[in-house]
Amino acid sequence: MQVDRYERLWMWAATAMLAVFIGAIVVTAVAGSNHPPSHTEVVNPDTLGVRGEFATPGVTVHPDGSRTVAIRAEFYVFRPERVHVPAGVPVTFRVTSPDVLHGFQIVGTNVNLTVAPGYVSQATVTFETPGEYLIVCNEYCGLGHHLMQGSVIVGAPR
Ligand code: CUA
Repeated sequence: MQVDRYERLWMWAATAMLAVFIGAIVVTAVAGSNHPPSHTEVVNPDTLGVRGEFATPGVTVHPDGSRTVAIRAEFYVFRPERVHVPAGVPVTFRVTSPDVLHGFQIVGTNVNLTVAPGYVSQATVTFETPGEYLIVCNEYCGLGHHLMQGSVIVGAPR
């Protein structure tokens, strides 16, 4: 089969580009811990306020000092609105919604979750620097979307 020289050149160029893209995915996944969400956990959005960890959302302290924070993202507030945790310990945020799609982004960290009704979104972060970190909803969720914010108050290391 006769393949034109330039056609062959472009086939190799396309193959090389694919190799670079796949290589970039592998490098960021391995070296940068950049993974797609893999935490699929379902919850009944109709009973969130009635029972379970999201009925009384807030901070749970574990024996090793780490924290788990359950948060309900709903029209147009995060419950609890303010979260107090110390610096230097792993903090796992577990967030869900009883109504519509919301966002959960902690400014200044790499925590950026999509919060869908019926699912628990989870991310773990260790705050190295004490201070106040803004939480914003970055998915348009309705007329009060721009008012939907909270904060993480990070205290001195334990
Ligand atoms: Cu909640 Cu935008």
